[in-house]
Formats: sequence, structure tokens, C-alpha cells
Amino acid sequence: MIEEIFNVKDKVVLVTGGSKGIGRMIAEVFVKSGSKVYITARHGDVVAKTAEELSEYGYCVGIQNDLSSMEGVDHLVREINSYESHLDVLINNAATGWHEEFESFPEKGWDKTFNLNLKSVFFLIQKLVPLMEANATKDDPSKVINIASIDGVGIADYDSYPYTASKAGLIHLTRSLGKVLVEKNIYVNGIAPGAFPTDMNEMARDNPQVLGAFVPNYRVGNKEDIGGSCIYLASKASNYVIGETIVVDGGWTSVAYGGMMSRHLKEEI
Ligand SMILES: NC(=O)c1ccc[n+]([C@@H]2O[C@H](COP(=O)([O-])OP(=O)(O)OC[C@H]3O[C@@H](n4cnc5c(N)ncnc54)[C@H](OP(=O)(O)O)[C@@H]3O)[C@@H](O)[C@H]2O)c1
Repeated sequence: MIEEIFNVKDKVVLVTGGSKGIGRMIAEVFVKSGSKVYITARHGDVVAKTAEELSEYGYCVGIQNDLSSMEGVDHLVREINSYESHLDVLINNAATGWHEEFESFPEKGWDKTFNLNLKSVFFLIQKLVPLMEANATKDDPSKVINIASIDGVGIADYDSYPYTASKAGLIHLTRSLGKVLVEKNIYVNGIAPGAFPTDMNEMARDNPQVLGAFVPNYRVGNKEDIGGSCIYLASKASNYVIGETIVVDGGWTSVAYGGMMSRHLKEEI
């Protein structure tokens, strides 16, 4: 039963920003689950190396691509169309941030963040609809998974203003596209990760025990946490879930920010 409900074998999956960090974790879980996985990133050498490493476990192809512009979006659409005649799962994971204090925050930081985190996500979905519709049926819909952040849910004390706003926007975009695309048998959902050890979250990467102290279950996230949630949203298991963003943060936003500090942190104090 479990294998039937959560099966993603032979699904064609595209993970943007899959060369490292959370995207790589997700890609690895899908490759090891028998999916045909395409990963993208700007740095061609890194994406090629990751694809080669993950190919040890199954099918993985790296595509060098910059999603920060409409040209990049069009390029990726052409590339994936050159490999496949349908796409089952699109995971919009690539994102960026810009940290600067409020008074001097520059327009280019705002545009860079919003272009990649929100505008490109919208247009990539729009332009991939024909490929995602191709094999989709009511019983076996295609799936879009937007990787948002807890910074767009309940935490807005992070000094990357467009990052938090773009992630909150992505959560709302997930709802509105969920409504529109269900008509085409494409279900749109999202995941809002908490702290995961990546280059974007250096604190979680370099000091996981310190950051883990803020998390009710005392740790940062891992491959199984994020990969498992994506498998759920990509598979039949979530065929009655649309427009939802699942928070995967060890209870940080719901428990810790709900007034309770992690026990470990309390002991420290
Ligand atoms: N790590 C966390 O704690 C955390 C928490 C909440 C949410 N998230 C979200 O999780 C996702 C992944 O974050 P991460 O921490 O894994 O970040 P990361 O380690 O910085 O990885 C980002 C990925 O996106 C790619 N990328 C960056 N800019 C790109 C562009 N213009 N075009 C195409 N690809 C681009 C990167 O490769 P290149 O540099 O080669 O392009 C890389 O593969 C993001 O949506 C992030 O907001 C992360």
C-alpha cells in the first residue's frame, strides 16, 4: 500500500537549484526513489558534478541555467522540452536573498530577489503548463511544489526584506495557482522549510547545534525531512491537497514562536 500511494518511480521531475543545498537533498531522494530527475543551476561545473554523483543511484541530468531573467526561463523551458515530452513534477527551489539594512537597501537587491524568488517561478510554471498537462489526468495529476520558507509564514525578523516578502508572496501565489491549474490536472502546493544546513543558511550549516537550540526538537532539517515532504506532495498521497504550503521546521514557527522556547534554550538561560 505504502509503495502504491507514495510511488514516484519513473516520474519526470525537474528541480531548479538542484545542484546543492535543499535542492540537491530533494533531487537525491527522488533519484533514489526511481524518478527521472533534472536539476538546474547557474554554475555548470557544479550542476554537472552533482548530476554525475546522483547518477550513481539512478537517472539524473544537470542543466546549466540562470533563472533570474525571462531569457533564462525560456532557455530552461526549451531545454526540458528537448529531453522530455511530458513533465510530472516541477519543484521551484532556486532562490536568493539580499541582506542590507533598511535605510540603504538598494533597488537591485529588491529586483534580484523578487525576479528569482517570485517572477521566474510564476513564468516558469506558466510556460511549463503544456508539458505538465501532457500526461496529467484527474487520477494522476502533475504536481508543482514551490519551496517557500518559514520567513514567509510567521517569522519576519530576518533582515532580507524582499526575501521574506517574496516567500510570503510565493505562499499566496501557490494558493491562486492551485485554484487555476487544478482545471488542467496540475496540483500546486508548497513547502516552507525551517533551518537546513546549506550555503544559504550558513548558521545551520556551520553551527547546527546552536541554531538547533531554537528548534523544539533540537536540530536542523535534513534530507529525509525535506525529501519526504516532497515525495508526499509529488505522489498520489496528496491528491486531495491543493494550494497548501506545508511547514517543515521541527515546530519552530508553531511551537517555539507560539510562546514556548525550546527546552534546551531555556536551560541555557
Ligand atoms: N537553507 C535553509 O535553511 C532554508 C530555509 C527556508 C527556505 N529555504 C529555501 O530553500 C531553497 C533552497 O535554498 P538553499 O538553502 O538550498 O540555498 P543554496 O544552498 O544557496 O542553493 C541554491 C540553489 O539555487 C541555485 N541558484 C541560485 N541562483 C540561481 C539562479 N539565478 N538561477 C538558477 N539557479 C540558481 C544555486 O546554484 P547556482 O548558484 O549555481 O545557480 C543552488 O543550486 C530556497 O528556495 C530557499 O529560499 C532554505
